[in-house]
Amino acid sequence: MEPRKGRRLALFPLPLQGHINPMLQLASILHSKGFSITIIHTNFNSPNPSNYPHFTFHFINENLSECEATTTDIFALLKLLTIRCVEPFRECLSKVLSDMSEEPIACLISDAVFPFTQAVADSLKVPRMVLRTGGASSFLVMAAFPFLRQRGYFPIQDSKLEEPVAELVPLKVKDLPVINTSEPESFHQVVDGMVNGTKASSGVIWNTFEDLEQPAIAALRHQFSIPIFPIGPFHKCYSSSSSSLFTEDRSSISWLDKRAPKSVIYVSFGSIAAINETEFLEIAWGLANSKQHFLLVVRPGLVLGTEWLEPLPNGFIENLDGRGHIVKWAPQTEVLVHSACGAFWTHNGWNSTLESICEGVPMICMPCFTDQKVNARYVSDVWRVGLQLEKGLKRGEIERTIRSLMVEKEGEEIRHRVLQLKDKANMCLRQDGTSCQSLESLVTHILSLE
Ligand code: UDX
Repeated sequence: MEPRKGRRLALFPLPLQGHINPMLQLASILHSKGFSITIIHTNFNSPNPSNYPHFTFHFINENLSECEATTTDIFALLKLLTIRCVEPFRECLSKVLSDMSEEPIACLISDAVFPFTQAVADSLKVPRMVLRTGGASSFLVMAAFPFLRQRGYFPIQDSKLEEPVAELVPLKVKDLPVINTSEPESFHQVVDGMVNGTKASSGVIWNTFEDLEQPAIAALRHQFSIPIFPIGPFHKCYSSSSSSLFTEDRSSISWLDKRAPKSVIYVSFGSIAAINETEFLEIAWGLANSKQHFLLVVRPGLVLGTEWLEPLPNGFIENLDGRGHIVKWAPQTEVLVHSACGAFWTHNGWNSTLESICEGVPMICMPCFTDQKVNARYVSDVWRVGLQLEKGLKRGEIERTIRSLMVEKEGEEIRHRVLQLKDKANMCLRQDGTSCQSLESLVTHILSLE
């Protein structure tokens, strides 16, 4: 009997906010192209299925205990998920594949950070594609890890942090996409696993666009023998609000409504990054001393060892005469599109970086780990649409950087460049644009998979 072919896709995101958002946006994009969507998700960090009545959800039990289910040590969590998800994922995918009441699955699309899904897909004889939620430029650096190891760049030595990586201009040693961990070898295995798992797939989908990362996309096409589909920016097609794991504080928008155009610096460090109390106080005082208006997101868990705002001196906000507003989580894409938003101080997670570029908002870069470091270098030195806090997190330096961006000539030039990139982002989504065309090729590719 001929195998049944269908227009159903099974999507399996890594259960972290910065990965769930683009995977569910991709699901909506492919749904608009006529595919039925099945989402396989961990119980941990599951988004609200009722926001997606047109998708079918299957939840797997990864069995994380209460103390394991935390992003405080993100690398430990990732390793645990990788081990605990294998069997429940296999069982679930097998059940989905054999469900004759549903349309047959054309392929699995898994987050690149879950490479074990390749072996599962192979054993169940279903093609697997990959969604890489980070940028192409940072992935290219991760793909070069074996070469960089040979050249002696790892382990990274503190004395060499400011030196250039000659093979990867304009990166400095401090920009290499690593994370602070007591097990660096294990981190390298995870990165190599992600790269090899991507190479072994039937194709990679990227939340980026040609005009932004053309050199990296071209290099990856040259190095990888699989098709590559840059079809971003996803959030311009579908918002991420419906996949938010946190409650968005709408006062962010009503507060912005009362501010002058381009007068506010929006500050947020994404869903995982953490800082210590001293760093938090430098940030708060740098913002206060800059005399600019600011909307600051302090996610519970952002400041290590605190509940929320206890480290701030009494009356800190009141003494700002309305110049500052602090929330636990903001509707970020709405904030960035708001006319009052003049700059974004970010950790440069890929979603935040892309969201800022697409709204023409210049950035202050404060990368914390992995791809964020590469993204920040591209923002400050390649696209030149932001300034990086390079000299440590000190209130004087913060105040100077904010003022350069918000009120000085340097800031004006940066704003001009980011507006040009914003135009390019809009162009690529037009019917004759590169992302739109790449999406058409992706649809054809999926339907051709055996
Ligand atoms: C993680 C990694 O840290 C990052 O390096 C990688 O590129 C993606 O996964 P995260 O740190 O959460 O993600 O950052 P980011 O990629 O910027 O994603 C955060 C998402 O949450 C964005 O879509 C952003 O719009 C949203 N967000 C963030 C909010 O909606 N409100 C907020 O207050 C903050």
